[in-house]
Amino acid sequence: MKVAQEYIKNVDKLAPCPQVALDVMAIANDPEADTAKLAARIEQDPLLTANMLRFANSAYFGHMKKINSVADIIMRLGLESVKLIAIAGASAGLLKSGQEAYGLDTGQLARHSFATAVLAAILGRHAGAREIDALFTAALLHDVGKIVLNRHLQQALYADGGPPEGRFTLLEMEHALLHTDHARVGMLLLRQWGLADKIVVPVGLHHTLDHEKSKFLFCRIVYLANQLTEGVGIHAIDPAAQFFDVEACRERSEDFPIVPGFSEHMEEIMAEFHDRYQETVATFVL
Ligand SMILES: [Fe+2]
Ligand SMILES: [Fe+2]
Repeated sequence: MKVAQEYIKNVDKLAPCPQVALDVMAIANDPEADTAKLAARIEQDPLLTANMLRFANSAYFGHMKKINSVADIIMRLGLESVKLIAIAGASAGLLKSGQEAYGLDTGQLARHSFATAVLAAILGRHAGAREIDALFTAALLHDVGKIVLNRHLQQALYADGGPPEGRFTLLEMEHALLHTDHARVGMLLLRQWGLADKIVVPVGLHHTLDHEKSKFLFCRIVYLANQLTEGVGIHAIDPAAQFFDVEACRERSEDFPIVPGFSEHMEEIMAEFHDRYQETVATFVL
């Protein structure tokens, strides 16, 4: 754990911390704070305001009447949703940067992250999960540790004259070169940002099935959503050309954790994912 902590010590220099999102969470968590103060803080950031309005008006929230202002968002969606929309809005920029050591060009991590988030939210609804917004956030930020480790991994790879010989999984490579991995580092970063365990823990366990907490529903869903979005290469190619291979998915089902409703409603879930993902790509200009 100590090694991972070292990497995030200077994280402000490595990745722009979404300060406005942190402020929004702090204000929203303060029982004394009023919504006018919250709206004022959000409106100081025009890009975040625009992102939040687009997101709040997207079909993801299913509202019939157009939302025109930040005050509207707070009133109509409630504080919990506003916090999470602020995180999504502020993270979009952070996630768009390229992560070369991981073979991710500009925009690829953002597309993979939003795809995982959209899919996790749909899986969550079919599984009867509550607090879908928190699940969306956990899935959106699951690979945030890659942003922290990218430069270190890049340096380590070139210091030794290229990647180590042999076949490694990504996590084995991270452990061999950095003595930690992006799931663990992401978990610590989000904990530092003050996010709740229901978000932090699934991020830390998104490549693990044998931890005692891996059986938590959010952990299973984020793990599965990440496996599925990686499997179809959503981070890598044209979002308009995405489709899921349901048959291939069934063949791999033994590798997946059990998520209620998934195997029964696979076709329906994938079809809905496809539509929602297109909307999200348009909303956040991914
Ligand atoms: Fe990952
Ligand atoms: Fe991932």
